Amino acid sequence: MSNSETYRVRMSGISKRYNAIQTLDDVSLVLRPGEVLGLVGDNGAGKSTLSKVLSGAVVPDAGTIEIDGMPVTFTSPAEARAARVEMVYQDLSLCDTVDVAGNLFLGREPRRRIAGISFLDKKRMHEQTRQMLDRLGIVIADTRLKVENLSGGQRQSIAIGRAASFEPSVLIMDEPTAALAVAEVEAVLDLIRAVSARGVSVILITHRLQDLFLVCDRIQVMYEGRNVAERLIGETNIEDVVNLIVGRKFNARSATNAYRDGAPA
Ligand SMILES: Nc1ncnc2c1ncn2[C@@H]1O[C@H](COP(=O)(O)OP(=O)(O)OP(=O)(O)O)[C@@H](O)[C@H]1O
Ligand SMILES: [Mg+2]
Repeated sequence: MSNSETYRVRMSGISKRYNAIQTLDDVSLVLRPGEVLGLVGDNGAGKSTLSKVLSGAVVPDAGTIEIDGMPVTFTSPAEARAARVEMVYQDLSLCDTVDVAGNLFLGREPRRRIAGISFLDKKRMHEQTRQMLDRLGIVIADTRLKVENLSGGQRQSIAIGRAASFEPSVLIMDEPTAALAVAEVEAVLDLIRAVSARGVSVILITHRLQDLFLVCDRIQVMYEGRNVAERLIGETNIEDVVNLIVGRKFNARSATNAYRDGAPA
């Protein structure tokens, strides 16, 4: 990579303290156009907080963010959205009692005027929803179904579809597959591939380490609020990632073996 390379995202020196806890301590993160970055680390490592800094939901105490080489400061998710950064939160923030189309268009429903009065243009909303779902390969039979009647995987797809519909250049997904059945996980991973193939840069937070090897180009490991390692996906394996996550280079057994073999520990 050349020095003149412009990153899609460049976060530097990000710190955030909550009372006694230094949740983020001088953390950095870069993301290239169309890249899928796996962000991993133990519970409480700071993954969600770092992502929320990028999505405007958390304001850091220190640090800088650049998008496509331009410095930005976000004090709300709306500001991040204007810079084409979207985040799918773990709780999904969908409206259960609203149908699929309504959730995709929440807050920006197409309207039409009849005799000077503005009406919700339901026909257009359902047509556009169908187009959006097809484009992303999301299989949902009826856009009039209420979200509460969808499977976990379908709900996750709708949340991702909604985020993707804002045409983001950066899409952050916090644990999108945590609660899903096998086939549903496959569908979400396919969706991540489809989105990144269109040039969107993706940050995937997951505890399902096997998923990293299916969709990520690179991983970044955090430990207790700090960066600890970064790996191209082709240069690591599950054991390596596990060791980085738990914060030690060797487990007791491999350290013993290395000592016995005369290798430097
Ligand atoms: N709003 C908050 N107020 C106080 N402490 C917080 C707040 N948000 C996060 N923290 C603390 O910051 C630390 C990092 O939390 P964070 O949610 O970023 O971790 P994480 O890596 O996403 O973990 P997990 O894998 O469990 O989701 C935790 O110790 C958490 O308790
Ligand atoms: Mg989290």
